[in-house]
Amino acid sequence: MVATTKTQEAAGRDGWSSRSGFILAAIGAAVGLGNLVRFPAEAAANGGGAFVLFYIFCIALIGLPVLLSETLIGRHGQASATRSVERMAAESGASKAWTGLAGLGVLSAFMILAFYCVIGGWVLYYVGIFVGDLFTSGVTGGALAGMSASDIESIFPTLLEQGGMMSILDAVFVAITLYFVARGVSGGIEKASVVLMPAFFLLLIGITVYGAFTGAFTETLAFLFSFDFTRLTGPVMLAAVGQAFFSLSLGVAGMITYGSYVARDVNLAKTSTTIALADTSVALIAGLCIFPIVLAAGLSSEGGMGLMFATLPHSFQSMPAGSVIGLAFFVMVGFAALTSSVSLMEVPTAWAVDRFGFARPIAAGTVAALALILGVASAYSFNALNDFHPLGFIPLFAGENLFTALDSVTAKLFMPIGALLTTIFVGWIAERRMIDAENGLRGGLDRFWFFLVRWLCPAALAAILIVGIFPDILGT
Ligand code: TRP
Repeated sequence: MVATTKTQEAAGRDGWSSRSGFILAAIGAAVGLGNLVRFPAEAAANGGGAFVLFYIFCIALIGLPVLLSETLIGRHGQASATRSVERMAAESGASKAWTGLAGLGVLSAFMILAFYCVIGGWVLYYVGIFVGDLFTSGVTGGALAGMSASDIESIFPTLLEQGGMMSILDAVFVAITLYFVARGVSGGIEKASVVLMPAFFLLLIGITVYGAFTGAFTETLAFLFSFDFTRLTGPVMLAAVGQAFFSLSLGVAGMITYGSYVARDVNLAKTSTTIALADTSVALIAGLCIFPIVLAAGLSSEGGMGLMFATLPHSFQSMPAGSVIGLAFFVMVGFAALTSSVSLMEVPTAWAVDRFGFARPIAAGTVAALALILGVASAYSFNALNDFHPLGFIPLFAGENLFTALDSVTAKLFMPIGALLTTIFVGWIAERRMIDAENGLRGGLDRFWFFLVRWLCPAALAAILIVGIFPDILGT
């Protein structure tokens, strides 16, 4: 099982020390706020069962083929995302302009990093609240003792008013991320994932089992897994595809970068399947973890960020040992967010090392400083900069503040464009011989995968882009 990266060491380039190190790091990148916050919120907003089934379908038929496409480009290139694409294009006699798909990815990863670390800072704030709680009420006391429901619900909006506090927490989260990225691939990123991901799984299973015994588990099962096909409308399907992409970290060259550190003897089709399976299981388990807690407290199961940061804290109050469970919960979310922010910081860092020949710590430090500046500005967009609409001149993004614009531009535009270009590149431009040498597939399965990459994925992605840019087509 354990394959060392001798070839890469010989070439002087850092890489994953083993196949399982790569798998854990890639799962760490994929599993994050997208699984824990976005998936439950999207499932709730889109009617539960029908959304969930279609989401699984999208992961298998679109997400997985694109994941394999990205990792194989990286492994073939053995270099940063832009240089890997450049190599494959050059060896296929194609235009150097294809490098642009990775360049766009580097930019997107940087933009996502900036606001992702702000959310990471919020998670730290809640960790702080529950640590304080443990000191004041002890292990057996309920969480947030003495606070009224409205007190608890106002924690989150009050935090959003405090630009300075959010900036400090953002800086802390960026600094922790930087610590691991600066130490390199095998010595930093992989080490963090190998420790944090198993801890994450233990906490997730623990809290889920707890919820199954004490919470509204049957209601949750009915909600998440009852398939009412009349609810499978166009917008629900699009939401599911978008969620599949965000969750697998696709379309921003992240998996090209991670793929470039994989040893030659690893079967990429198998590892991609493992990564996709793990990511999807975590999303489903997160649903099974969060809804019973929320539903048992008789709270509403709707609402994006509010579900985790306003509704859920509320329900810890009525639980036995609520402050311990609350603390464990937010520590778990923090671990998941950290391994994802590390993957986001790695993309522009690897690019800067390759492009300008910077030493890794300097490249990572520069990326971190710039991401912090953009992050602080976006944190203030909930208060002082509320009326600043950077893209107000584009109808699709009218009314978005800096924070939401960073999210929307990447999710609605850059990620689907990046993934579309990737599938066209792998399906049509790159020489088939290179693809076949990397993908680890044979026979019928190989042909089926290639069909998906060549036809289904580009068509589906083009459809998402069109409907994303012109939502009026669906009449919504
Ligand atoms: N997939 C991660 C999550 O679910 C977020 C993430 C990390 C990401 N790297 C990414 C999303 C790259 C898009 C692109 O939270």
